[in-house]
Amino acid sequence: MRLKRSNQGMIGIDITSSMVKLLELMPLARGYRIESCTLQPLPAGTMVERRIHDVDAVVESVRNALEKADVAAVDACVAVPSGLTILKRLSMSSCWTDEEIEARIPLEVGDDFPFPFNDVAFDFQVIPSVMDHDGRQTVLLAACRRLDVDRLADTVSQAGLRLQAVDVEPFAMARALSVPARKEGGEPQWCTALVDIGATTTTLHVLWDGLSLYSRDTPFGGHQLTESIRDHYQCGWEQAEAIKRHGRLTADELAQVVAPFLDTLVQHITRSLQLYEATGHHRDIGRLVLAGGGSVTPGLRERLVLHSDLDVAIANPLRSMSISDDHHWQWMMNASPMLLTACGLAMRSRT
Ligand SMILES: Nc1ncnc2c1ncn2[C@@H]1O[C@H](COP(=O)(O)OP(=O)(O)OP(=O)(O)O)[C@@H](O)[C@H]1O
Ligand SMILES: [Mg+2]
Repeated sequence: MRLKRSNQGMIGIDITSSMVKLLELMPLARGYRIESCTLQPLPAGTMVERRIHDVDAVVESVRNALEKADVAAVDACVAVPSGLTILKRLSMSSCWTDEEIEARIPLEVGDDFPFPFNDVAFDFQVIPSVMDHDGRQTVLLAACRRLDVDRLADTVSQAGLRLQAVDVEPFAMARALSVPARKEGGEPQWCTALVDIGATTTTLHVLWDGLSLYSRDTPFGGHQLTESIRDHYQCGWEQAEAIKRHGRLTADELAQVVAPFLDTLVQHITRSLQLYEATGHHRDIGRLVLAGGGSVTPGLRERLVLHSDLDVAIANPLRSMSISDDHHWQWMMNASPMLLTACGLAMRSRT
């Protein structure tokens, strides 16, 4: 939907397993204004394990999304999904410059990739406050296959847009949650555990000071609940999705269909949190934030409060943004947990 005309905004494009999510934001003196937003389904088979399998079909969907939302901006950012990215913390001499770090990275991580390092695209950041005792610093490396970056870049330019950046998904999500909020002169004491419950995948990201320290995918998501509703009602997929999204389940049905889904989902989330704890982690987790379409499943938040003993909130990155057309406000608020990545991308400034 189009909310106001201007071509100065930034478009965040999140290409997921089954959708193109598009959000256009205009930076203001304070905050952002939502310019346009849409969700465009992708044809089956277009994406395989979060990789673009059929570039033409994705280009077509992005074009349709741009038209449907009546987008005026031309600058766009995309993200490589966390499942296709390797995040690694490296300990390096604190005397090294960025050039020296860059030159050293292939030697440090060469064996981590099942393909030649020439085929790898990478970026790194020194984690500012993490200094080892022996004068070493921690460098966070994000790396993925160059092919995946090239496909995303091709898709954006073939859709007629100007690519500004290819980001890493959890970094975009951290930006949308404003996790970078570093207190003056200090650093955050706690990590944020962000659990993104998508259609096919549930991912735990452990975020600290705007960085993702740990990500773990589990191949379980909202599709499993749609399948159970479809089997229970003996109906089609679309109808099952509608029943789920519009909360048309009786108390009995919630107990029969939704409760077993929640049991499994909570087990997966708890397991991911335990595995993070077992990594000899950097910081303790101070809060849990839920995102993705599955985050609003009735009863999930309450169960996680009981299991984790943490503050649990559902992400709403758009809540404090202005919007020129109030008519769309409720739709935006409902879609907001699904728009975290698109939002973090649209919050990037121009390069
Ligand atoms: N109100 C709702 N209640 C429960 N589930 C919902 C609701 N709205 C959407 N969903 C579910 O959320 C899922 C889609 O969420 P999301 O958009 O985050 O997934 P995705 O990013 O496309 O998938 P993935 O991350 O797995 O590639 C679908 O399974 C959908 O049925
Ligand atoms: Mg997703």
